[in-house]
Amino acid sequence: MSSLQEKLKETTDFIKKKGVSDVEFGLILGSGLGELADEIKDPQVISYNQIPHFPVSTVTGHAGQLVYGMLAGKKVLAMQGRFHYYEGYSMQTVTYPVRVMAALKAHSLIVTNAAGGVNPEFTPGDLMLIADHINFMGDNPLFGPNMDDLGPRFPDMSEAYHLNYRKKVKEVAKKQEITLKEGNYMAFSGPTYETPAEVRFARTAGADAVGMSTVPEVIVACHSGLNVLGISCITNLAAGMQKNLNHKEVVETTERVKVDFKTLVKETLKIL
Ligand code: 6GU
Repeated sequence: MSSLQEKLKETTDFIKKKGVSDVEFGLILGSGLGELADEIKDPQVISYNQIPHFPVSTVTGHAGQLVYGMLAGKKVLAMQGRFHYYEGYSMQTVTYPVRVMAALKAHSLIVTNAAGGVNPEFTPGDLMLIADHINFMGDNPLFGPNMDDLGPRFPDMSEAYHLNYRKKVKEVAKKQEITLKEGNYMAFSGPTYETPAEVRFARTAGADAVGMSTVPEVIVACHSGLNVLGISCITNLAAGMQKNLNHKEVVETTERVKVDFKTLVKETLKIL
């Protein structure tokens, strides 16, 4: 057994002992979107720093815990706070929780994030269904020897974001009268925001939104055979499209749209 698999066994044994069983959906809650986990019924809460082999979160404003329980009738394991590449973690470390979700038999992963709008038709506060992504982080969590027991050497990424799930979210948005854009998410390493020239480049490349997360987790989810649904909260427009960028605006915008965001995810979970 590889050391990764030994670690995964220790991690999942611990999590199972804490009362987690039968995960259906993994849920990764991005900046300002962690409140959704507060709606999980009869939650089992496990702080990251208790969990063997789990990294420790460094960003403030993130709870840094797993929350397990029922949400909209589904068994979910939610991450309140994720690990970012810009914090200095390796891609393998950033994506370790997705390996854990897959090892706990989750069949699907819902990923969320705060992102900057690059599409000129986007407005801060829009929610964007992720149709596809561009990995521009300069790294990949699957670099190195492939663990054949975990997934294929060359994973197919032609439908990284599950087509039927995308259809379902769009139906829910329509029914709930929630504005939902759809587009491509381009991931930069961060922690700097992009320059205006980089934003023009992203737009030319086909990006609708830019961010600093999500892509590593989605790559590992695909490697693990999970169905993926991705939702971005467009918290601001990218550089050159609005005055200046700061994290405060990101937090304020998520605060403003979180009701719609929570409704969208919960109503979608009901029908998946
Ligand atoms: Cl403009 N860029 C990146 N990379 N991440 C963001 C963002 C911009 N706005 C929110 N998150």
